[in-house]
Amino acid sequence: MTGVFITFEGGEGGGKSTQARLLRDALTSPTRPVLLTREPGGSPGAEVIRTLLVQGEVNRWDGMTEALLLNAARCDHVRKVIRPALMEGRIVISDRFADSTLAYQGYGHGIDMADLIEIQHAAIGDFAPDLTLILDMPPEEGLRRAHARGGAEVRYENMDIAFHRRLRDGFLAIAAADPERCKVIDATRSIDAIHADVLAVARAACERAG
Ligand SMILES: Nc1ncnc2c1ncn2[C@@H]1O[C@H](COP(=O)(O)OP(=O)(O)O)[C@@H](O)[C@H]1O
Ligand SMILES: [Mg+2]
Repeated sequence: MTGVFITFEGGEGGGKSTQARLLRDALTSPTRPVLLTREPGGSPGAEVIRTLLVQGEVNRWDGMTEALLLNAARCDHVRKVIRPALMEGRIVISDRFADSTLAYQGYGHGIDMADLIEIQHAAIGDFAPDLTLILDMPPEEGLRRAHARGGAEVRYENMDIAFHRRLRDGFLAIAAADPERCKVIDATRSIDAIHADVLAVARAACERAG
């Protein structure tokens, strides 16, 4: 594969979607088209699964059911959208990817990490991002921003604060275990300051990938 796969991760309201759009715009050039996609979702089938996950009652699904739905969606997303774009040499940016399942269902809901990794492997094998940007901030601030933003996709936002603290710790543990791939970004700063850091790390990853 000749493309570059970059993912944004972190808790609710941390600025992932904002920064993913800015990075897409900054990296786009006539010679290097950029695809911006998201999880859950990103392909027509996976978007149908997304609505099952992000809407409705907090207790609608248990953690294992969520993990299976997420990986079903991810399997379709990787096969039909991400891999084909990378094969064409494109830069692909995903607003969330597999680390979110480890953080939310593993650290958040307490599903066994070995089970999660096994399910992920069945869905996408060893496929992994070239670079993962983890936007880190206290969950209280992220939730405040997410509530102010509004919208219908509030099922995870409505989970208790202890859940959101476990998510933050989980993302930081994932980053510590894989420092080559994962860069933790202080997301409490201005949009422009965060974007400058994001762009520098992303450009370096694109150069490494060729
Ligand atoms: N650095 C920032 N400082 C202040 N507000 C921000 C910043 N980045 C994003 N926001 C705002 O916070 C809200 C959540 O950002 P968003 O990008 O949707 O986060 P996420 O996709 O991680 O949930 C949005 O209303 C957005 O405009
Ligand atoms: Mg978002």
